[in-house]
Amino acid sequence: MKTYVVGGAVRDRLLGRPVQDRDHVVVGATPQQLVARGFTPVGKDFPVFLHPHTHEEYALARTERSTGPGYKGFTFHTAPDVTLEDDLIRRDLTINAIAEDEDGTLIDPFGGQRDLAAKLFRHVSSAFAEDPVRILRVARFAARFADFAVAPETLALMRQMVAAGEVDHLVPERVWQELARGLMEAKPSRMFAVLRDCGALAHILPELDALWGVPQPEIHHPEIDTGAHVMLVVDLAAAAGHPLPVRFAALLHDLGKGVTPKEGWPSHHGHEALGVPLVQAICQRLRVPNDCRDLALMTAREHGNIGRGLQLRAATLVNVFERCDAIRRPERFFDMLKAAECDFRGRSGEQRTFANEPYPQAAHWQAALAAARSIDAGAIAHANRENPPRIPLAIHEARVAAVRAIAGVSEEGAPSA
Ligand code: CTP
Repeated sequence: MKTYVVGGAVRDRLLGRPVQDRDHVVVGATPQQLVARGFTPVGKDFPVFLHPHTHEEYALARTERSTGPGYKGFTFHTAPDVTLEDDLIRRDLTINAIAEDEDGTLIDPFGGQRDLAAKLFRHVSSAFAEDPVRILRVARFAARFADFAVAPETLALMRQMVAAGEVDHLVPERVWQELARGLMEAKPSRMFAVLRDCGALAHILPELDALWGVPQPEIHHPEIDTGAHVMLVVDLAAAAGHPLPVRFAALLHDLGKGVTPKEGWPSHHGHEALGVPLVQAICQRLRVPNDCRDLALMTAREHGNIGRGLQLRAATLVNVFERCDAIRRPERFFDMLKAAECDFRGRSGEQRTFANEPYPQAAHWQAALAAARSIDAGAIAHANRENPPRIPLAIHEARVAAVRAIAGVSEEGAPSA
């Protein structure tokens, strides 16, 4: 029996990146032999064991065969005569198919080190096509290793898989898991570029895919293309280190621009409200967690108001707070402000970038929210105890008065939201 470290741990060590978990492959053993040595079996889908002391994962070398479309259609085969090479050849990318034995010797039958040096994502063998999740994995790796490119033959294979309908059968949880992980990488735009290149984006997120080719007014958006804008925004959210809900909200904030009437282009009047049902549809389809869904819905609906904040009247500001439940949940509102600031800054052309321009909206909204939250709702309720139905209105009015008192809130003639 021989054991090897494989996959991401070897790849990341060779790249000089921190190693998260170490996966091991065991060759020449049976499950019974591993159990006899104190390993604990944990595999649900295939035989994986935990080491008795390190608790790292050890999988028996295996071959796999797809039995149907999608992620679930798999059978596997393990036996003491399955070789290391048999195991490595069914892996996704050459850079993930390098093994390291107990002496530190690398076993690299498919050129993983060559592709690491060339910064290429290349599939190991035609077995790549048996698991469509790998399309998403390649895209996600592109967001992490942003200077890597997809090898032409791998891109061609990915396109064939998409054309054959392979990504249409993916289970929603897996799609979300990969998208979420990719959004948390350094350059999420690379993930979407790869998904667009192979045609998968139109299947997975058609609402987002529709934004490429949709123009915006050059004066506000020197990048013009809406897809280009959204990619700038999501990369800024990543560069700022924002959490997943903010990045997801940044990604979906402008979906409405894909469904505004063409006659009106490049303006997109009312795109905020138009985006809301699209965000809802995506979140339902991919079973997006509630925190991500709620922030994305709110940001799609309100980002125009956030940008116009300095021109809004006190009553309008308070209406926004009340719609967003910001009095009770200020942190979530601040998260929306982060997404909105990325929206503001994520515009650029040769003549102009917004990277370092002032964004006074954030401080303005924060001051207004602090004022709206400062009123004593209990005292107002007490004062109106003879007339309970009036209490909500009295509280609302007190909030408006408090917000009106802060510096810079506009008064008459401002548009309402
Ligand atoms: N693997 C694969 N196809 C998949 C999933 C995994 O071939 N659909 C193989 C790859 O060899 C991969 C290894 O299993 O390196 C471990 O998978 P996983 O832990 O999901 O990914 P890592 O490559 O370790 O990447 P990460 O750093 O994102 O965990």
